Amino acid sequence: MAKRKLMMLGPPGAGKGTQAKLLSERLSIPHVSTGDMLREARRKGTPMGQEAARYMDGGQLVPDEVVIGIVRERLAEEDAQAGFILDGFPRTRPQAESLDAMGIVLEAVLNVRVSDDEVVRRLGGRLSCPACGRVYHEAFSPPTVSDTCDTCGHLGLIKREDDRPEAIRERLKGYWAQTNPLVEYYESKGVLVDVDGEREPVDVERQVVDAVQ
Ligand code: AP5
Repeated sequence: MAKRKLMMLGPPGAGKGTQAKLLSERLSIPHVSTGDMLREARRKGTPMGQEAARYMDGGQLVPDEVVIGIVRERLAEEDAQAGFILDGFPRTRPQAESLDAMGIVLEAVLNVRVSDDEVVRRLGGRLSCPACGRVYHEAFSPPTVSDTCDTCGHLGLIKREDDRPEAIRERLKGYWAQTNPLVEYYESKGVLVDVDGEREPVDVERQVVDAVQ
């Protein structure tokens, strides 16, 4: 099979991570999430993680040079040589141009569309497992046993620091100003595929799978 180079684009809370994880399992290619990598660096307390945390908690984008550096290193790893699903990168024009400069031609950019109101509803109720990263929603997809991860059994699901209302507002502002222009960028390259992200997760998954067949 040809090397798969895919990307999930969309506002915060659109369901990019949820769908990227499913697709990663289905295609057996790594899910490369800049948000997850930055949170991991922060957990480990690396200087880069500490710097990134200052931006993330306020809902602002981490500087391009930091993010481009970690993506370049990640995509050079062995497991990414057969393909990958980028989630949350690129998010600015310079980041998109850096991928071009690395010689990476994306095969499909899945643009997951949801309204701002839906973003607020989803992020306001999101819970994550700090051990394995699985994501839940208090109302739409709660864990089977309260506060316990279905996947790894960890007790104590958490709310992300940047899911506070002020940070959500800031992230949406950043999305519309800096990331949404990439819709046109990838449309002009002929690789953009629209996905209606407001449907049930299983319906969103069907659209995503159809797009990459
Ligand atoms: P990042 O972690 O990438 O966050 P994000 O893009 O804001 O996206 P989210 O993870 O919040 O949402 P998602 O679309 O993955 O939705 P999810 O599947 O979780 O980035 C965080 C921060 O890191 C940034 O703000 C920035 O500071 C920094 N950063 C990261 N990348 C960067 C970059 N390239 N450049 C600069 N800075 C960068 O779903 C959300 C909720 O909805 C869940 O509760 C889920 O259960 C629920 N849900 C999902 N699908 C559905 C559905 N169909 N119906 C109902 N509920 C659903």
